[in-house]
Amino acid sequence: MSFLSKCSTDTVHSAAAALKAGSLVAFPTETVYGLGADAENAEAVARIYEVKGRPHDHPLIIHIASIDGLSDWAGELPDYAVSLARDFWPGPLTLVVNRGERAKDFVTGNQKTVGLRVPAHNIALGLIQEFIKLGGKGIAAPSANRFGAVSPTNAQAVEDELAEYLQVQDIILDGGQSLVGVESTIVDCTKETPFILRPGAITAEMIEESTGLIALTKEVSEIRVSGSLDSHYSPKAKVVLDAIAEPGDGLIAPDQIPTPDGVIRLASPRTIEGYARDLYAALRSADAQGIEVVVVLQPGGDGLAAAIRDRLKRSAH
Ligand code: TXA
Ligand code: MG
Repeated sequence: MSFLSKCSTDTVHSAAAALKAGSLVAFPTETVYGLGADAENAEAVARIYEVKGRPHDHPLIIHIASIDGLSDWAGELPDYAVSLARDFWPGPLTLVVNRGERAKDFVTGNQKTVGLRVPAHNIALGLIQEFIKLGGKGIAAPSANRFGAVSPTNAQAVEDELAEYLQVQDIILDGGQSLVGVESTIVDCTKETPFILRPGAITAEMIEESTGLIALTKEVSEIRVSGSLDSHYSPKAKVVLDAIAEPGDGLIAPDQIPTPDGVIRLASPRTIEGYARDLYAALRSADAQGIEVVVVLQPGGDGLAAAIRDRLKRSAH
């Protein structure tokens, strides 16, 4: 496995060639790091499931270079899906749409739909564009963590978690810290109106503004979204929400909250964006320090705050 920092055009090109040859490439996106494979290569996609330890019926998101890639992978689409793609791509939004011929069972976890996203990150976009020049159509990529664990927001976290499962030809591209820090909003676009399967930085309000339709959200969906399992995004430490931290506990809380004596401060975000960006690295750092209990004071409000609370509820389950 190679770990490549300061990604030049050359590094991105060799990573695209590795993907085309059937290897795995972990790459940065604005949300979290993804573990990528050629979405048309059944064996390469099967390795993603092995490396993650993920059940085979959990579908993958296919990363494409622009809205033009929709026609490569999607079947029939409602107009509102096109509005969403126009308004928010590249960006932290995944559209679940009826699948086209190209999207096979091995990448959709046997769903008749496919998840598509154009990431807003130079290295990710460069990688997809180079891959397309080599004849590829899309990069299947889940978050680059073991199943059920916290998503990685920097390249070191990917290496720490996955290096032992990767092969010599596989690559980790280092693009620094992911700026959003929580996974993309997932919108099911197979019904008459948009349906939010996973909240994220693209909020219900933004979706309603773009489409002129009410965006529904449901706690438990029939479609399988592994990120919607009750327990997910979990560090080894026990996560306790909105409690009083005891000496020896870790604490994640907004910066105006003081740190009680003997408590180990893991993050002091000043804004809601900062909260999302720092959360997963703070949970990972608790595990690295052998902290057993992490108290998290949740942010209030809608939008991104609601996405953070959604992840925290599952971390704490
Ligand atoms: O921000 C993100 O979305 C990151 C970056 C790497 O793009 N990716 C990510 O992938 O979070 P993953 O696999 O960790 O989470 C994607 C979720 C999974 O829970 C999966 O079940 C769901 O999206 N999903 C993918 N395709 C789907 C489909 N056709 N129908 C329903 N859910 C789908
Ligand atoms: Mg994930």
